[in-house]
Amino acid sequence: MKKKVILDVDTGIDDALGILLAVRSGEMDVLGITTVNGNVSLEQATKNTCKILQLLEKEHEIRVIQGANKPLMRPTFFEHRVHGKDGLGGALLDMPVHVEAADGHAVDFIVEQVKQHAGEVTLVMTAPLTNLALAVMKYPELVHQVKEVIVMGGVVQGFGNVTPTAEFNMYVDPEAAKIVFQAGFPDLTLVGLDVTRKALLTDDHIRALGDSPIARYVKESTAEYMERYYERNGVRACALHDPLAVGVALNKQLVTTRKYYVDVETKSELCDGQTVCDFQNRLSKAANVHVCTEVAADEFLELFIRTLRA
Ligand code: BDR
Ligand code: CA
Repeated sequence: MKKKVILDVDTGIDDALGILLAVRSGEMDVLGITTVNGNVSLEQATKNTCKILQLLEKEHEIRVIQGANKPLMRPTFFEHRVHGKDGLGGALLDMPVHVEAADGHAVDFIVEQVKQHAGEVTLVMTAPLTNLALAVMKYPELVHQVKEVIVMGGVVQGFGNVTPTAEFNMYVDPEAAKIVFQAGFPDLTLVGLDVTRKALLTDDHIRALGDSPIARYVKESTAEYMERYYERNGVRACALHDPLAVGVALNKQLVTTRKYYVDVETKSELCDGQTVCDFQNRLSKAANVHVCTEVAADEFLELFIRTLRA
């Protein structure tokens, strides 16, 4: 039985790689891909998602549904420095979009699908959490009807990637993240920078993908990203943030997790979007999040390459 999933994305170089992994794995029944503003505008994220499905030749099988075009309470904050003006690092620029987004709103789609397949749907969230926060507010029962939620976001023991303390998905819509973390999901896993920074795609990995339209796309879309990553981190690589969240949905054994109380800062000049993890239970609050603390990075990269090369 394939795992029923909804991918929520702000496509994004690494979101695109996550979609490729999910669809090519053959192990996921992708009910739909919902889009949200984040790395780029909602419109651009949707267009990019449609293009990636075309690259996969799945545009007639998998629906794309648009969601929020801005965070709950804040203005948009795009990440063109990392993902390029178009969000895909300049790849697929000339590809025309044949099949556009489906009618309807991502929030309604998430609620409807979870109701229809109660207890079976895994939500893989690789973008600001606006759509899921809105879905929870609209239909609070959702938290008990979803199978599990996997969130790429946050960092509990390291530094941020947009401010000194905040990871991008949390920073863009911290109010939404707070709502999601406090909603009471029984099975919510946080795949943060603590582990995604260890899942690094290098030139050698890209060579191992061989020569195919997908391999060529991966090489082209990650080229600039790798340069930026090198400038900041001294390593030429593309961090597979979002693909690792998909990897965790495919195989939980790839990561070690521990359950802690986690909350998100929303009222600080310096620390908005910081994920605060109560390692010593000083707040005496019930643990709400399975936090990924370690990753079998080589195993994950092997899965990623094997799946995209196939
Ligand atoms: C996350 O932020 C975005 O820029 C990436 O797509 C990923 O979801 C990494 O911090
Ligand atoms: Ca993303």
